[in-house]
Amino acid sequence: MRTLKASGNASLSTDPEENGHSEAVSEFSRDVIRGLTSPRKTLPCKYLYDEAGSLIFEQICELDDYYLTRTESEIFSKNLPAIAEALGRDVTMIEPGAGNCEKAQPLLAIMDTPRCYIPIDISPEILLAAESRIETALPGLQVQPVIGDFTMPESLGEKTAENKEVIFFPGSTIGNFTWEQARTLLQGFGSRLSAGDGLLLGVDLVKDSVILERAYHDDQHVTEAFNKNLLQRINRELNGDFDLDAFAHKAFYHPLRQRVEMHLVSLKSQRVNIDGVQIDFEEGETIHTENSHKYTLETLETLLADAGFHPQQYWTDKNKHYALCYADFA
Ligand SMILES: C[S@@+](CC[C@H](N)C(=O)[O-])C[C@H]1O[C@@H](n2cnc3c(N)ncnc32)[C@H](O)[C@@H]1O
Repeated sequence: MRTLKASGNASLSTDPEENGHSEAVSEFSRDVIRGLTSPRKTLPCKYLYDEAGSLIFEQICELDDYYLTRTESEIFSKNLPAIAEALGRDVTMIEPGAGNCEKAQPLLAIMDTPRCYIPIDISPEILLAAESRIETALPGLQVQPVIGDFTMPESLGEKTAENKEVIFFPGSTIGNFTWEQARTLLQGFGSRLSAGDGLLLGVDLVKDSVILERAYHDDQHVTEAFNKNLLQRINRELNGDFDLDAFAHKAFYHPLRQRVEMHLVSLKSQRVNIDGVQIDFEEGETIHTENSHKYTLETLETLLADAGFHPQQYWTDKNKHYALCYADFA
């Protein structure tokens, strides 16, 4: 049985029935009950990504309406040599929330002798599949996957060598965090870094609300399936009895908060049982499942400065829908 590095003390087996599994389930249970018994019902968006959720997210990335992945990919493919040059040589790249690692691979392939790649994700299945793909495609590169929650500083580990390190954080994942959470998260990333290290960050920019809302409420209902998978996951893992047809997917842009909010709306007054706990819903009451904050280059610069990063270069698409930023850590 192969073991992976896990955040925390122990190494993690590739067999999900072993070691950290029951601990993870009880943390999931605690977070779900806490979120659904709070005055405004909410669920942490990281739980959207179990194995099924990660696969649905890959389908979302293929949708025409979901311009984010397509636009970010265009920016990468047009600017790959310049981005690789900004990152420098002999770099250790750490990717929190790496998912299928598809964005890192072409970048690592063109970088000047990258030393090591450390993808971190809470979804072990998708990370394991990506690890073997990258090792085959880029023999010679050290790949050290970590299964863990990147909001926990221990999942990033400590810097152990002198070479430059770059945190790679694409996919607008930063958008899932409020301003204060994003600053704390970036400061946590900074705690691993030293002066001269860097951050390559992908952010979605403020734009027309019609484009934004379509991206999170697509005609093919894939985002709806992604959102409702969270209820299915609770039914599966926590002995829940959510009736998926009694909830509707809702996504809207909140212009003041500059974010798209994703919710599940109870279509009737109903009671749901989870792990023996009864949760009552009124008709129209929602569970807030995800935020996707949008930035301007100015708000992004302020956020980065607050967390100790200094933007050096931006790459955007022709419509200015999305931006990649390389920032130095000082
Ligand atoms: C929006 S996807 C982005 C995936 C990939 N980086 C990309 O750009 O396409 C978010 C990824 O982060 C992972 N994730 C979300 N919250 C996490 C957390 N708190 N800790 C570790 N991984 C997390 C999910 O499993 C998923 O693979």
